Amino acid sequence: MKFTSAVLATLIATSLAIALRAQVQERPIPRIVKKDGRFALFVDDAPYLMLGAQVHNSSTWLNMLPKVWPAMEYLNVNTVEMPIYWEQFEPGQGQYDYTTIDTVLEQARQHHLRLVLLWFGTWKNGSQHYMPEWMKLAPDRYPHMVDKNGQAVDSPSPFAAASLEADKTAFTAFMRHLKSADPERTVIMVQVENEAGTWGTLRDYSSTAQKLFEAPVPPEVLTAMQLKITSPSLNWQEAFGPEGEVCFNAWSVAKYVGQVAAAGKAVYPLPLYANAALRDPLRPGAPGSYESGGPTDNVLAIWKVAAPALDILAPDIYQNDPAAYLRVLELYRRDDNPLFVPETGGAANARFFFSALGLQTIGFSPFGMDYSRGHDTSPGSRQPDEFLAWAMNYRLIGPMQREIAELNFEGKLKAVAEVAPKVTETLPFGDWNAVVSYGATRNGQAIGNAEPTGRALVARLSDNQFLVSGFFCRVDFRPAGTDQQRKSQHAIDGTGQIPSALIDGKWQHRQFLRVEEGTYENGVFNFVRIWNGDETDWGLNFGSEPVVLRVSVATY
Ligand code: DGJ
Repeated sequence: MKFTSAVLATLIATSLAIALRAQVQERPIPRIVKKDGRFALFVDDAPYLMLGAQVHNSSTWLNMLPKVWPAMEYLNVNTVEMPIYWEQFEPGQGQYDYTTIDTVLEQARQHHLRLVLLWFGTWKNGSQHYMPEWMKLAPDRYPHMVDKNGQAVDSPSPFAAASLEADKTAFTAFMRHLKSADPERTVIMVQVENEAGTWGTLRDYSSTAQKLFEAPVPPEVLTAMQLKITSPSLNWQEAFGPEGEVCFNAWSVAKYVGQVAAAGKAVYPLPLYANAALRDPLRPGAPGSYESGGPTDNVLAIWKVAAPALDILAPDIYQNDPAAYLRVLELYRRDDNPLFVPETGGAANARFFFSALGLQTIGFSPFGMDYSRGHDTSPGSRQPDEFLAWAMNYRLIGPMQREIAELNFEGKLKAVAEVAPKVTETLPFGDWNAVVSYGATRNGQAIGNAEPTGRALVARLSDNQFLVSGFFCRVDFRPAGTDQQRKSQHAIDGTGQIPSALIDGKWQHRQFLRVEEGTYENGVFNFVRIWNGDETDWGLNFGSEPVVLRVSVATY
């Protein structure tokens, strides 16, 4: 490997830092906690909201790291998702190279960042491109899948016993190393494989696979998929009809990935997850139109039963249709699955970070967020818009991520994003409703933003106090009454609705007692000023600046 002199200097500094590091106090191992049907990722024993970004596929090389950290600083992330490549980690069978992992750990700490490491092992986007050379050169021992015509395809076989053994061994070595090298818990989660599954054939057609395909479906799969069993020995085709091959492949791939995950977890029980290349959630095409065998929405139950060592099945969301985006979020937030978005893209989708928050996501991460593709990194330079949309979210939420994670875990937070043509939305909080509107004009109806960029969050802090924040929106409060018709003599807010309600035959009107602007720092709300007059008379308006309000309301 050749290094530039700057990288060499960093490497020397890193080795020194590693050598000089005093015995570090072990911190609690991060874990997923479920309470009252809600999930949280606990880091240092408290709920943590992962404000993440994933680097490009070929950026975890020591020469590339200087292109990573400045982007992360610009984005204000608290966690970076970085791949670890099997081919780099195990260049010769049983010979492990920890240099990259150790350097990434050390540099992440220097930048006060956490990491999610992605194990690019047997599968990367359905292929086996990250297997080490010594495996690629022995296809008989580490076979590809074969299609209907008996031809090898660009996808590993989930029935390759030697590949499974090699992956389990390597992944275990990786996790064992993390356990000893990371008492600080810089690494908070690990992704096992990347978009496991198959393109180019629906399943393996090798003789081993064929036999299993024709054999009875394991009863736990039938139960998980809530199939009414008409005969005790249904094979995959009989049980699942046109989806038989996809379901069989999901079972085969998930079993394999589950075993790799379990082996790693046995040595170091960090939260583990698998990510999915999705199928269209609204108009799913026939099998073959999406990656077969990965944790797509139709086979989540199969993955859950086949790979219990995985804590999360997570969607990579590249949908540009807002309805599809929101549907994916709903599909992956299940009673047996916390919502976590490990990859997403498209600047216009940045607002859906708020929708994910509204579904208690434990983390979120746009993809491809480093400067390896030549963005300008000089201080003060104009950043590409793609980065800015994500950066805004994290600059707002970053200083209060622990508070937001805790409020969400306690079920006190609601958040939404603008989806045209809807211009107003009501967030119910029992006796109060928060009313969010987009593109509200001073005297009239809300008309929506020119581009749907609005996003808002409201959390109840106490009986009459709310935390309110967002971008490109207006938020107001209204007592939740039995009748919320318009009443012309009352002030009309920007939604065209009045902040009043008829309760037990008497009109109750919202009044602001105190609207405080401030910033959170280390759990403390630092007061900046009181909003009143123009700043509150028409509701609370949020633009492109990161603004956080603590709002006390009462009725009169
Ligand atoms: C999804 C994959 O998981 C990523 O590694 C990357 O290949 C993106 N697709 C596309 O850039």
